[in-house]
Amino acid sequence: MAKKNKQTDPLAKLVALCKRRGIVFQSSEIYGGLGSTYDYGPYGAPMKNNIARLWWDDMTLKHDNIVGLDSAVILHPKVWEASGHVSGFSDQKVDCKECGVRFKHEDLIIQLADIYMAKFRTPIDTWTDDMKILHSLLIKKSKEIYDSIEDKERRQLAKLKGGKEKDQGNINIIWSDDITRVVLIGILSKLKKFQNLFYEILSTHVDKLICPDCNNVASLTFPRLFNLMYKSLSGALEEIASEVYFRHETAQGMYLDYKIIAESARLKLPFGIAQTGKAFRNEITTGNFIFRTREFEQMEMQYFVKPGETSEWLEKWKQLRWDWYLSLGIDADKLRWHEHPKDKLAHYAKEAWDIEYLFPFGWGELEGIHDRGDFDLKAHQEASGKDLTWFDDQEKERYHPHIVETSAGLNRTMLAVLCDAYKEDEQAGEKRVYLALDPRIAPVKAAVFPLVKKDGLAEIAAEIYDVLRTRFPVFFDKQGSIGRRYRRMDEIGTPFCF
Ligand code: GAP
Repeated sequence: MAKKNKQTDPLAKLVALCKRRGIVFQSSEIYGGLGSTYDYGPYGAPMKNNIARLWWDDMTLKHDNIVGLDSAVILHPKVWEASGHVSGFSDQKVDCKECGVRFKHEDLIIQLADIYMAKFRTPIDTWTDDMKILHSLLIKKSKEIYDSIEDKERRQLAKLKGGKEKDQGNINIIWSDDITRVVLIGILSKLKKFQNLFYEILSTHVDKLICPDCNNVASLTFPRLFNLMYKSLSGALEEIASEVYFRHETAQGMYLDYKIIAESARLKLPFGIAQTGKAFRNEITTGNFIFRTREFEQMEMQYFVKPGETSEWLEKWKQLRWDWYLSLGIDADKLRWHEHPKDKLAHYAKEAWDIEYLFPFGWGELEGIHDRGDFDLKAHQEASGKDLTWFDDQEKERYHPHIVETSAGLNRTMLAVLCDAYKEDEQAGEKRVYLALDPRIAPVKAAVFPLVKKDGLAEIAAEIYDVLRTRFPVFFDKQGSIGRRYRRMDEIGTPFCF
């Protein structure tokens, strides 16, 4: 992989600032660091708390039908079986034995398909052994698949075969066997059946193929199953301790408690439960600083609605959540929607939308807004044997409320805020880095800098500082050049200086 230039790469510059100013830095550093774990320092911890507080207030103060919860991180193990996380959140992974990069199996196969399709357009006498192996496998399998297709598909292929040579990427010239040629055209034209055939061949022979990252051949392992749930043992005696999971999402606690919460807070549908807190995922690939880590924080709100009202509420919450990011001062041009295709939805979702932000490394998800239907309440009712239905005293009927979920990542929101706020300029030939933060997010709200000690100025400054410090995080600095004192505050986004 090409090394990033720390002087010019925007993310590397932000990472350097975060370390230099004690915002976010590598955890366990004196032991060489633990992969993808970060500590939030004297300026990062308040910044993160301020964002979480803005979210909490936006949910619980602005809406009198949304209440807060702080549920346990370790729930009954059956919760995660019922929720589908134990079986559903497992991923097949492939490792490269040479460069150590780990790939999600399905992404790797799509990548390899593109790589080999491009390679097969090169002159046959330049082909490497891995290409020759794939070629012979394709020939072998092509007849089988061609025989299995229907006349309609054959006609479609014949039409494609008659298409322009350039669209077929020289396949006609290189591949002499007619059926293989037709099947390859099917693959190139992205016809599902033929693509799947190619994916299957790539998948079963992945150990002979090229690593997309380091270009070594025959260095990939076969796919192996990884479960993303963090396991631990509960109970001091290992022999009798029970296996438990650290929560994968904060959401589940809200489903388990929804009836007790609704009763105690005297809520009527629709109502919401909001929660912030840590979630844990044994992610196979982590990275891009605090974007994807194994321990992270979520800000989730579950909105319980009458069945049949889900679409209306999903639309409302999409708008409200979009507006929240704008209210933090995030550039609207760097936000976009991504709808999850129906065949890629998480097992609990009927419809899912992501709000994405344009990070220096590309578009990345900040928040998911999901129609979870009655999946979770029904699953927990079935597994626990407890009635989780709701009695609608107006309609005089019983049903499982449907759930619209807004699920945001706190660390990712902070990263987006930092990326958006990071600015550089030059004054009188001197370079300056500053964070243009919303004052509500800034970790230090004001700094007091007496210019001179004489004429009672130091005392006045001390007085201003004393008044402010009881209500706001304020910084006092009477030493050093005034320019440097200002620059230090600029770097952590302090909005006011006296
Ligand atoms: N309850 C639904 C749920 O958890 P998700 O899309 O898996 O949905 C929601 O996660 C949000 O949590 C994401 O949009 C992201 O902001 C954050 N998130 C998920 N995995 C993360 C990770 N490994 N590191 C940091 N944030 C993560």
